[in-house]
Amino acid sequence: PPVSLIGVPTDIGAGHRGARMGPDALRIAGLGEALLARGVDVVDTGNVQGPANPWIEPVHGYRHLDEVVAWNRALMDATAAELAKGRLPIMLGGDHCLAIGSITAIARHCRQQGKRLRVLWLDAHSDFNTSAVTPSGNIHGMPVACLCGIGPDELTRLGGEAPAITPAEVRQIGIRSVDPEEKKLIKDHAVDVYDMRYIDEVGMKRTMETALEGLDADTHLHVSFDVDFLDPSIAPGVGTTVPGGPNYREAQLVMEMIADTGRMGSLDIVELNPVLDRRNRTAKLTVDLVESLFGKSTLMRD
Ligand code: ARG
Ligand code: MN
Ligand code: MN
Ligand code: MN
Repeated sequence: PPVSLIGVPTDIGAGHRGARMGPDALRIAGLGEALLARGVDVVDTGNVQGPANPWIEPVHGYRHLDEVVAWNRALMDATAAELAKGRLPIMLGGDHCLAIGSITAIARHCRQQGKRLRVLWLDAHSDFNTSAVTPSGNIHGMPVACLCGIGPDELTRLGGEAPAITPAEVRQIGIRSVDPEEKKLIKDHAVDVYDMRYIDEVGMKRTMETALEGLDADTHLHVSFDVDFLDPSIAPGVGTTVPGGPNYREAQLVMEMIADTGRMGSLDIVELNPVLDRRNRTAKLTVDLVESLFGKSTLMRD
């Protein structure tokens, strides 16, 4: 399908500033051109607008809640507009709080079309915190909980009804940093987590086969790609690095296996922070991986 790039230049939900420059870092690394070269019809819709980052301390367990709501409303509307045109939106983040807006729009689109939704959450973190248990107050650590109906009304009801999605629709891959109380919530809500221990034991191929099981022609696959999913040795340009992530080959396999399903209908690329990077290498790596997501094979199969 034709692709629409949607820039979301904010770090409103993060604990470091700089992810606001993620959209331009991806553009400068040649994301649009790489897709065009693959024969994909791409339009860059420009950037969604939102409030500046006031950079203040959390209030009642949330940092910048009003601003996070404003950014997510704007992104939800932009995402819905591209989906309604039959296009595949790629969110250029921006921090991971933006997945509340994008996925709320995507879930609503799926309900309208009678489609099933599968959310593949590629991340070092589970992002299932609440205001009561968050160690930081940073809302980029809360989007999965909010989408599942756990969080402030302004975010859980962004699309009208709550919850936007159910935990059963989510598969998390690459997880290796979960806060103690967050772990309890993940278990209580039975989120399907393929952590690094699982990947080490079972291998990435079987992990992905399991996580992608049951996708059919009526399934919309959304990929929420937090760049800190990758091992920091290959992807240093993120604010919350955690050692022990997937290496280059494993990451390529993940993207190729998603491409093979032919079901990806939307994509978030989040947490890229060029301020912390070296010569934009993390954005360039991300473009390389997105090429694989769109069917470029490193193998001699086509
Ligand atoms: N669990 C930590 C927190 O809640 C880190 C979250 C990191 N999330 C992310 N999207 N990078 O503060
Ligand atoms: Mn659609
Ligand atoms: Mn993360
Ligand atoms: Mn994340």
